Formats: sequence, structure tokens, C-alpha cells
Amino acid sequence: MFIKVFMNKRIVIIGGGNLGTAIAQGLTKSGFIQPQHIIITKRNVSTLKHLEEEGIMVSNNNREAVQYADMILLCVKPFQVSDVMEEIKNVLTEKHVLVSVVTGVSIEQISSHLLTKTAVFRAMPNTAIAIQESMTCISHDRISGDQLKYVEDMFNQLGEVVIIDEKLMDASTVLGACGIAYALRFIRAAIQGGIQIGFDAKTATLIAAQTVKGAAELLIQTGHHPEQEIDKVTTPKGCTIAGLNEMEHRGFSSSLIRGVVASYNKIAKD
Ligand SMILES: NC(=O)c1ccc[n+]([C@@H]2O[C@H](COP(=O)([O-])OP(=O)(O)OC[C@H]3O[C@@H](n4cnc5c(N)ncnc54)[C@H](OP(=O)(O)O)[C@@H]3O)[C@@H](O)[C@H]2O)c1
Repeated sequence: MFIKVFMNKRIVIIGGGNLGTAIAQGLTKSGFIQPQHIIITKRNVSTLKHLEEEGIMVSNNNREAVQYADMILLCVKPFQVSDVMEEIKNVLTEKHVLVSVVTGVSIEQISSHLLTKTAVFRAMPNTAIAIQESMTCISHDRISGDQLKYVEDMFNQLGEVVIIDEKLMDASTVLGACGIAYALRFIRAAIQGGIQIGFDAKTATLIAAQTVKGAAELLIQTGHHPEQEIDKVTTPKGCTIAGLNEMEHRGFSSSLIRGVVASYNKIAKD
């Protein structure tokens, strides 16, 4: 029922860059919204031809796009938010729902541009949103009912959703959005190791990626602690524990934790 209602809604994505494009693709792939109900904007639209071919509307006119839409997804860089908000504030109404995926810009900062009581959410997805496998953290300022359901439901089509306090938004950026890059670096290193012990690159990539996918699914589907699953693989005096301990002696967990904290400190400082 809700999906039926939602399918008639129209979405504008302001900022057709990496994330905006990934969201547009994820939304259409999920079948949740028809491509012709999405407009994606940027100043130089020539890079959006592939989306236009899929039936998504593209535009360089933010104001016109907002007037067409029910939901606005703000996907520009942090320093561009102010200009965009000033540009669209006169055409925003109480009926609009504004969702910002912009890192480090608070709901209060966005709301300070508003002339009406438009509902403002922050969402922190990651680039796996393009294949509907995002981890998206959402925060809001006491919004409930249909508008919250509307936003939750949309991101639920694009992966997993968790509602968090806004003060954890920077932490969610690191663990969820930067986390994609950390995980990919892990996979790349595993591939390099795999090639050194005998696999060609293509086979090593498949084995490493599917193995990480399986490990993640083991945790998600069983709810087990990672160490519980690790215990099943580590035969006493075996090769797994020998490899794991060598990684730990070289600072594996420590460097990951330090990387997470370094990313977090960088967000907090800039
Ligand atoms: N990438 C991620 O994994 C990720 C994850 C979570 C959140 N985020 C956040 O998402 C935001 C976008 O990141 P991104 O990686 O997609 O950046 P990006 O690739 O640089 O995309 C930003 C886009 O905004 C467009 N733009 C700039 N000014 C505009 C305006 N006035 N009107 C309409 N469009 C405009 C730019 O195109 P033109 O120059 O042609 O206008 C560009 O395509 C950032 O705030 C980032 O912090 C990113």
C-alpha cells in the first residue's frame, strides 16, 4: 500500500556526482520509482547522458526541479550547500521533504536557510547504494509519521537503514561511507596475496570478494560475534591461526582502528 503511494512521488537529486548518480541508479534498479519520476541536476549535465538514456530526467535548473518534486535529495559537496539552499529556498514548501547526504553539514545549518517548515533529514549512505546494498544511517529532528516512514522506506529499498542520533553522523560517515574503501583495500591486499601464492588476478579477485561477502553474511544472518565464527576456522596449530597471529603482530587490527579514528579526527577538524 505504502509503496503504491510512494511510487507516485517524485524525487529530485541535486548534485549528479558519484553519490547522486549511484542513488538514481539504485532507485530505478530497485523498481521502487519509475525513472521518469526522478530528476537529477548538476551544472554541467553532459556527464549524465547515460542516466538520460535510462529515462531519468536531467536538468541544470534546481528551482524548476524542486517545484516538480516531493522529495529533494541534496548530494552536493559541503561547500556548495549554502549556495544551493539560497537558490531553492523560495520554492521549498512545507510539503517537501529534504534529505541531505552531505557530510558534516548539520540539520540546523540546512534549516537556517529555510523560509518554511520543510522537514529536513540527514542520511549517510555509501556507494553500494548503486546496487541496493547500502548501509544508510538516518537522523532527523523529531520528525515522525508519514515523512519519516517515507524516507526510511526509500532507503530500505536501497539496503539497510538505521536511525541514529545526529551527533553520531560523523561516526557513521567513517564506519559506513569510508568503510567501503577500507573493505575494498582489504580485498585488494587479499588479491595481491592470492596472486603471490598462485592464482591469476581474476580468480584471486573472485575468491577474495566472495569470501568477504560470505563472512559479512555470516555475521548479518547469524548475529554471531566475529570471534565466534573465527573460532570455527582456527584449528589448533593450524594455518589460519598462524596467519592471523602474524597479521596481528604486524598491527592488523591496530592499524584498522587507527585508520577509523584518523578519518574521524579529519572530519571533526575540517
Ligand atoms: N561518495 C561517497 O561515498 C559519499 C557517501 C556519503 C555521503 N557523501 C556526500 O555526498 C556529497 C556528494 O559526494 P560525491 O562524491 O557525489 O561528490 P561529487 O561527485 O563531487 O558530486 C557533487 C556534484 O554536485 C554537482 N553540483 C555542484 N554544484 C551544484 C549546483 N549548484 N547545483 C546542482 N549540482 C551541483 C557537481 O556537478 P557540477 O559541477 O557539474 O554542477 C557534482 O556532480 C558530498 O557532500 C559527500 O560528503 C558521499
